[in-house]
Amino acid sequence: KISSAFYHQRVHDHYENPRNVGVLDKNDPNVGTGLVGAPACGDVMRLQIKVDDSGKIIDAKFKTFGCGSAIASSSYASELIKGLGLDEAKNIKNTFIAKELCLPPVKLHCSMLAEDAIKSAIEDYKRKRKLNIK
Ligand code: FES
Ligand code: FES
Repeated sequence: KISSAFYHQRVHDHYENPRNVGVLDKNDPNVGTGLVGAPACGDVMRLQIKVDDSGKIIDAKFKTFGCGSAIASSSYASELIKGLGLDEAKNIKNTFIAKELCLPPVKLHCSMLAEDAIKSAIEDYKRKRKLNIK
C-alpha cells in the first residue's frame, strides 16, 4: 500500500498547502484570467497568469471552488506553468497533471479543469494583447 499512501501524501500536500492561491490585477495588460467550470460537478476554477514581454509566464495565481483534487490540480498546474512560454503551457495535458498527482480515474475531470483553466487564461491574455495593440 505504499503507492496509495504516496498518492494521499502528494495530493494532500497540494491540498493542505496549495501554492499560488490568490489574485492578480485583472486590469494589468500583462495578466490573463481564465475561468472554467466542470459540468460534471459544478466546481469552478479561476487561474490567472502574468506574462512578460518575451511571452514567458512569470507569475500564476488561482482560486478554486471545488474538490480537493481540483485544488491540488490547480496548485500543481500553477507551479508547473511558471517560467514556461505560452506555447509550452498550452500543451500541458490534464493526463500529465493527473499522473503526477496520482489521481484516480473518477478524479480525471478535476485535472481537466486545470488544463482548461490554463488554456482559458492564455486565450484571455492574447485577446487583451490584441486589443492593446490596436
Ligand atoms: Fe487522501 Fe484525500 S484522503 S487524497
Ligand atoms: Fe469535480 Fe473534482 S469533483 S472538480
